[in-house]
Amino acid sequence: MKVNGKPYRTIWLADDGRSVEIIDQTQFPFAFETVTLNSMADAAHAIKVMQVRGAPLIGATAAYGVALAMNADPSDASLHAACSSLLETRPTAVNLRWALDRARKTLIQVAPEARTDAAYAFAAEICDEDIGINMAIGMNGMEIIAEIARRKKPGEPVNILTHCNAGWLATVDWGTATAPIYMSHDNGLPVHVWVDETRPRNQGAFLTAWELGHHGVPHTVIADNAGGHLMQHGQVDLVITGTDRTTATGDVCNKIGTYLKALAANDCGVPFYVALPSPTIDFSLSDGVREIPIEERGGEEVSHITGQTANGTIETISIVAKGSPVANPAFDVTPASLVTGLITERGVLSANRQAIAGAFPERVRLSA
Ligand code: MRU
Repeated sequence: MKVNGKPYRTIWLADDGRSVEIIDQTQFPFAFETVTLNSMADAAHAIKVMQVRGAPLIGATAAYGVALAMNADPSDASLHAACSSLLETRPTAVNLRWALDRARKTLIQVAPEARTDAAYAFAAEICDEDIGINMAIGMNGMEIIAEIARRKKPGEPVNILTHCNAGWLATVDWGTATAPIYMSHDNGLPVHVWVDETRPRNQGAFLTAWELGHHGVPHTVIADNAGGHLMQHGQVDLVITGTDRTTATGDVCNKIGTYLKALAANDCGVPFYVALPSPTIDFSLSDGVREIPIEERGGEEVSHITGQTANGTIETISIVAKGSPVANPAFDVTPASLVTGLITERGVLSANRQAIAGAFPERVRLSA
């Protein structure tokens, strides 16, 4: 997508052909800065501290992390060590494991002398694949938006609520939940997006609002608690979120607070869609609530907030009564029964085992 008229991906190879550039997402929305990753440790650090985040981008960064490790030492031992270290960085998004398993299986078959080039080619392939998948998700999701637009008065916008950031910043480009939104907007379908601020890290207010604004998509940031009220009053036509891991049965793990939106949508008869690339499906799991590991993050994300003062300085301040304990589970699981449909690169699927397996038979075979 474009930033100030210049096309960007979220991750790309530097001019030296070996180091890797990323957009530092910890600086949003106050600054647009890039960071150079020179080693596997830099890549692991970028994932851990959320300079990069979002399930697909975490997978792509891990693939480049392996390439950086191979650049330093292309031995079998180094390959295994890199995959193990990178896997430790964040627990919930399954794209990380998917990318690393694939990297390990592909690269172990390549002789060490040729492994570095093969690893960079593999990482580039993961990135291109992500973009292709997201564009297909965009086309499939746009059909849903177009269908709702047909039932509205001409020019009246389709109101879409989204949670967290499943935008282009969470992927290599286009985003998952945002791909149908960008494509609709680009094709002249009027859309308006309700952006949940998404406490505690504010991915909605900081990232989704920033990227929609840069693309010229009409949007409004709301407090996380406002969605149910808007749905009750007919101001939300559909919800589209992303996901960090979806089970073979269609249970969806996503940023904390998604489940509450699904409950409200269900109560109000608002369709609740989840946009996902197939690498986000974990075919080994059947029960999301019990089986998906939920990342518990530092309490300071809840007890403190960062913002910009009127004179332009960035400050972090405390917002919780002194001495009160805080907890910070970062994801929750929405059961398949609350999901209207899964918008994938192979079409819009019902959230159940049969529909998912039918669309991705080769992935079912691989996980068996
Ligand atoms: O903790 P984050 O910022 O890495 O959270 C991930 C997300 O952005 C989402 O939950 C997203 O909706 C799914 S990834 C496209």
